[in-house]
Amino acid sequence: MPKTLHKPQFLIIIFLLHFFITIHSKPFSRNLSQKSLHFKNEKQTHLHFYFHDIVSGPHPTAVKVASPTTNNTILGQFGLVMMMDDPLTVGPEPHSKLVGRAQGIYASADMKEIGFLMVLNYCFIEGKYNGSTLSILGRNAALTTMREMPVVGGTGLFRFATGYAQAKTHSIDFKTGNAVVEYNVFVVHY
Ligand SMILES: *[C@@H]1O[C@H](CO)[C@@H](O)[C@H](O)[C@H]1NC(C)=O
Ligand SMILES: *[C@@H]1O[C@H](CO)[C@@H](O)[C@H](O)[C@H]1NC(C)=O
Ligand SMILES: *[C@@H]1O[C@H](CO)[C@@H](O)[C@H](O)[C@H]1NC(C)=O
Repeated sequence: MPKTLHKPQFLIIIFLLHFFITIHSKPFSRNLSQKSLHFKNEKQTHLHFYFHDIVSGPHPTAVKVASPTTNNTILGQFGLVMMMDDPLTVGPEPHSKLVGRAQGIYASADMKEIGFLMVLNYCFIEGKYNGSTLSILGRNAALTTMREMPVVGGTGLFRFATGYAQAKTHSIDFKTGNAVVEYNVFVVHY
C-alpha cells in the first residue's frame, strides 16, 4: 500500500500530468497567418486544352454506368450516368500531346434539353502541373455554343483554386457519339 501523498507532492504530480497532456495533445484548431498560406502570392492562370470524349470503338474513355428505366422525356436520356477518364491534350488531334485527364461523372440532369451535371477532376501530368488537380462542378448544356462551369477547388499548385472553365465543342461525330471539346480554364490560386 502506498503512503498517502502530502499536499505538495500531490500538486507536483498534477502539474506534471497537466504538462505531459499539454505537450502531447494537438489542438483541434489554430490560427494561421496569411503568409503561411502564401496568400500574398495570388496567381492567375489560363489553361487551354482539348477534351476527348470517346464513347464508342474498341477503347472508350467514357462508359455508361446507369440509365433510366422509364422513358418519359423528349430525349429519353434523363437520368443517364456516364463515368469518364477522358484524355486532355494540347491540340484537337487524338494523338496530340497529353497534358492530363478528366476523371469523373457526367449525368443527364435536364428533362427538357441536353444538360449534364458535370462532377470531375482534371488530373494534370504536364510539366510543373504534374500531380496537381482542379475540381469542376457545374452544368453543361452540351448543344449550346459556349458553356461555363465553376472551378470549385484544386490541389498541389492549384490549392485554394477558384475560377471557371469554358467549353466549346470542337467537333462531334454524330455516328459514334465521340466528341472533342475545347476548354479555356481561368483560375485564381496561391
Ligand atoms: C485566433 O483568432 C481569434 C480571432 O482573431 C482570436 O479570438 C483567438 O484568440 C485566436 N486564437 C489563438 C489560439 O491565437
Ligand atoms: C425512348 O423513346 C424514344 C421516342 O419514343 C425512342 O426513340 C427511344 O428508343 C426510347 N428509349 C428507350 C431506352 O426506350
Ligand atoms: C509525373 O509524375 C509522376 C510521379 O511523380 C511520374 O512518374 C511521371 O513520369 C510524371 N509525368 C510527367 C509527364 O512528367
